[in-house]
Amino acid sequence: MRVLVTGGAGFIGSHVVEALRASGHEPLVYDVRTDPGADVRDRAAVARALSGVDAVCHQAAMVGLGNGVADAAEYVSRNDLGTAVLLAAMAEAGVGRLVLAGSMVVYGEGRYDCPQHGVVRPGPRAAADLEAGRFEPPCPRCGAPLVPGLVAEDAPTDPRNVYASTKLAQEHLSAAWARATDGTAISLRYHNVYGPGMPRDTPYAGVASFFRSALERGDAPRVFEDGRQRRDFVHVRDVAAANVIALEAAPRPGTLTAYNTGSGEPHTVGDLARALSAAHGGPQPVVTGEYRLGDVRHITADSSRLRAELGWKPEVDFAEGMQEFTRTH
Ligand SMILES: NC(=O)c1ccc[n+]([C@@H]2O[C@H](COP(=O)([O-])OP(=O)(O)OC[C@H]3O[C@@H](n4cnc5c(N)ncnc54)[C@H](O)[C@@H]3O)[C@@H](O)[C@H]2O)c1
Ligand SMILES: [Zn+2]
Repeated sequence: MRVLVTGGAGFIGSHVVEALRASGHEPLVYDVRTDPGADVRDRAAVARALSGVDAVCHQAAMVGLGNGVADAAEYVSRNDLGTAVLLAAMAEAGVGRLVLAGSMVVYGEGRYDCPQHGVVRPGPRAAADLEAGRFEPPCPRCGAPLVPGLVAEDAPTDPRNVYASTKLAQEHLSAAWARATDGTAISLRYHNVYGPGMPRDTPYAGVASFFRSALERGDAPRVFEDGRQRRDFVHVRDVAAANVIALEAAPRPGTLTAYNTGSGEPHTVGDLARALSAAHGGPQPVVTGEYRLGDVRHITADSSRLRAELGWKPEVDFAEGMQEFTRTH
């Protein structure tokens, strides 16, 4: 298959390109970062790039949290206008197969169970609670401490910031495109992706790169809250493999199917800091109790649908992946 990989010069995109090549496909990189740059918002350039293409793997996006609302127009422009231009060009060129880089940020807070009230949606975190070290969200009905669970794809979406809203809008646009053109669309909702090539010190690249940078400076990784926040760290090669499988799959035409793409093995941020610090040979992490109001407490995926329906299986073990991550940039 000839596959146009938007954002193909980025962290995840470049691994997708490699994985496609290894599977005998022909990836074409489309990225503003290349020379000459290719912008997904440039209709004429996208149309040219789509010639002879069988499928699009859409990784291009402005990532991270930026400056919040101040950057809203730029996020919407690059992520949503960019997706709209791409989809319109695909419709015109008759390219009917799309795999989108989705994100777990569309869920907002993860899934929680109250021993008494079952699955509940905790409200926004209150500064006073966090200040007092009460990090676990209470049940909105009875105030009891909640038990974190795994989010499945049918969990309600609840984007909590501009970036998250644009990631959800990308899915909605892609679903509209699929319906209108009878195309096939898969959104892989990545969890915390890590591995070689991960950008340094960008908030979205995640806490793993902050910790690694600290260790390299000889500083202890600073773990926020109490370090018990649960996440799902998935290796970038596993994510790239998921993209290849999704591109090769035969999903139902006319609709978008979303798949959580996580390791299926939750770890705490404290675990992550300890693993990296051990791999690096110290110093030991410090738990600071600091917090950022917008952070979710726990978000861990149920990625069983991707395994069951598309046969994907993450291969990279957490400890090994973290060891490699300490050595490779
Ligand atoms: N890194 C993660 O943990 C993670 C998690 C969930 C979702 N995602 C999604 O995965 C995708 C790839 O993210 P990444 O972590 O590799 O980030 P990245 O910044 O390394 O890659 C994004 C690439 O898109 C390119 N790009 C941006 N705007 C563009 C435009 N208008 N036209 C063409 N190219 C453009 C950038 O130049 C960059 O190379 C994004 O869609 C992101 O939202 C990433
Ligand atoms: Zn309750």
